[in-house]
Amino acid sequence: MDRFIIRGGRPLRGEIVIGGAKNAGLKLMVAGLLTAERLVLTNVPRIADIATMRDLLIQHGVAVEDVNGDGSAYAVGGEITSTEAPYDIVSKMRASILVLGPLLARCREARVSLPGGCAIGTRPVDMHLKGLEALGAEIRLENGYINARAPEGLIGERIILPFASVGATENLLMAATLAKGRTEIVNAAREPEIGDLVACLNKMGARISGSGSGTLVIDGVEALQGAEHRIMPDRIECGTYACAAGITGGDVRLVGGRLDDLGAVVRTLEEAGVEVTEDEKGLRVRRTGALRGVDIMTEPYPGFPTDMQAQFMALLSVAEGASMVTETIFENRFMHVPELNRMGARINVHGSSAIIRGVHALSGAPVMATDLRASFSLILAGLAAHGETILSRVYHLDRGYEAVERKLAACGANIERVRE
Ligand code: EPZ
Repeated sequence: MDRFIIRGGRPLRGEIVIGGAKNAGLKLMVAGLLTAERLVLTNVPRIADIATMRDLLIQHGVAVEDVNGDGSAYAVGGEITSTEAPYDIVSKMRASILVLGPLLARCREARVSLPGGCAIGTRPVDMHLKGLEALGAEIRLENGYINARAPEGLIGERIILPFASVGATENLLMAATLAKGRTEIVNAAREPEIGDLVACLNKMGARISGSGSGTLVIDGVEALQGAEHRIMPDRIECGTYACAAGITGGDVRLVGGRLDDLGAVVRTLEEAGVEVTEDEKGLRVRRTGALRGVDIMTEPYPGFPTDMQAQFMALLSVAEGASMVTETIFENRFMHVPELNRMGARINVHGSSAIIRGVHALSGAPVMATDLRASFSLILAGLAAHGETILSRVYHLDRGYEAVERKLAACGANIERVRE
């Protein structure tokens, strides 16, 4: 397993190109199941989860062509020969559950392994299943698999989500594009990645309105066609590198970053003493003075994103004053705390809240990654710490961030990957 060796204390200066969004790209690839024609996706991030999704689609029988031969663009399409999503893939990547809706819509049946929990929570899929039943699917859970069928096809319906679940919204949205009649998804998630998926589906001939409003209205059509779509920039990658600029006292240009996608994150950065300005190339992020403690509560979009919580925990651990971070989305997303405390942070967890007392400096230490965003929070701490930090289990990071050591080293960071 690869490790990172980081020697902290250098302010980051330079430019970082923001790649395509993992949490848009994964779903856009799944949208390719909705038509036999070619869906061409560009600006694809070269990360492990995208490769896993490619493998999942290929085992369903569709072609996934690496258009440029370098993983930057995929053409998805073809006939589906298997409607089963096996445990060994689904347990590796929970986003696999999103093939359920499209398989039901296109093939009227699906057998998808129940995704296990993961490090950050049990992550049930009850809202996905209840919503698909509302669209007329018959669903039976057996031997750890979801057995779903809709012999007469799906029928449009008004669905009210008890929680603005990103995945449930996406599964139901994609299923509804080929259902008979109108579907309304009320209390739909409003994350920008869903807006990107809606834009792509409409290019494919779907009839969806209400993007970003919290109520999606989908008028089913007979079939969808191929299209070409450029994946939106990754707002979480952008916010993560903004934290890197902030914690190191640097001045970094994030090429492709978009202020609109990062509303709550930018407001919180400014409150903490990190200045963010936008120009035609992207965002410029620099620290204007001492970091100040702020209070954060994670919420569905447009609130503060849970995927930025771990990164801000690192930033606030060296701010002046105290901060309180409350995680309302996942039940176990503080696993970075013990590792940050081993580097000298002073963080106390009380249930779903953590109190952070800022310290003057962190000290490098051997630490272990536990999940994708926690991995990066430890890198951020290492970039600011005195001395050497060794981060193990970097495979967690490689699932969702592309070329981290290259992007950081190009801005002056002393970081190297040791391959084992
Ligand atoms: C997506 O996960 C993202 N993953 C997550 O990013 C992100 O943290 C999350 O949305 C929230 O923004 C991808 O897009 C691949 P949810 P998802 O359904 O769809 C509960 C990352 O780091 N819930 O909005 O699984 C669930 O347990 C990852 O890139 C139910 O109870 O998120 C959780 O507590 C991590 N029943 C909460 O809702 C359901 O049927 C939010 O889940 C569905 C969800």
